[in-house]
Amino acid sequence: MSIIASFYRSEARKGGPTADMLADVAHELENLPAPEPPEPFRLPGAKHLAAALPEALDGPMASVVHGFMAIEPESPWFQTDHYRASLGDDYMDNYGYVTLVGDRAILKHERIACGFFVIGPGRHYPEHHHEAEEIYHPLSGDTLWSQDGEPGTPRAIGEAVHNPPWLRHEMTTRETPLFALYCWRGRVADQAQLTNP
Ligand SMILES: [Fe+2]
Repeated sequence: MSIIASFYRSEARKGGPTADMLADVAHELENLPAPEPPEPFRLPGAKHLAAALPEALDGPMASVVHGFMAIEPESPWFQTDHYRASLGDDYMDNYGYVTLVGDRAILKHERIACGFFVIGPGRHYPEHHHEAEEIYHPLSGDTLWSQDGEPGTPRAIGEAVHNPPWLRHEMTTRETPLFALYCWRGRVADQAQLTNP
């Protein structure tokens, strides 16, 4: 967690529209209560790590990726369970996330969430939104990121993708899986909702 907090601290020092949220999240990560021992649990979507990790370890956020690799074997994986009814079993078998901080996470927090997201290649994460503010930092992949119905654009590894509260957004992966660091701020217990379920 200290690795992510120090990454967010250094990003916040660069200024810009994500500085305030990243500094806030970093502060909360630095002041978390002691963790509850987790029950490790892997989801099928974790299989995409094998293809994503080499690129992520070769990238500018390798220290964050090393931190993930150290904690992942002891971590439970999660999904947004109500997606299954709309997106089907095949979609659910190809995505998931490790939530390190949040309402369902190892480290409980009502206002901040932080973790790692994985989705396989050739997948469309349909348009969705949520009350919480969100920042993704891609760690791998050639994903197209779309906001507010605009055409998707690629983002470099480590380039922040900022989704203000309730902004509609979607992602489309291409040749390689997407592996990303994410954080939420706000009502983190309120899960994302598809805009066209
Ligand atoms: Fe989101």
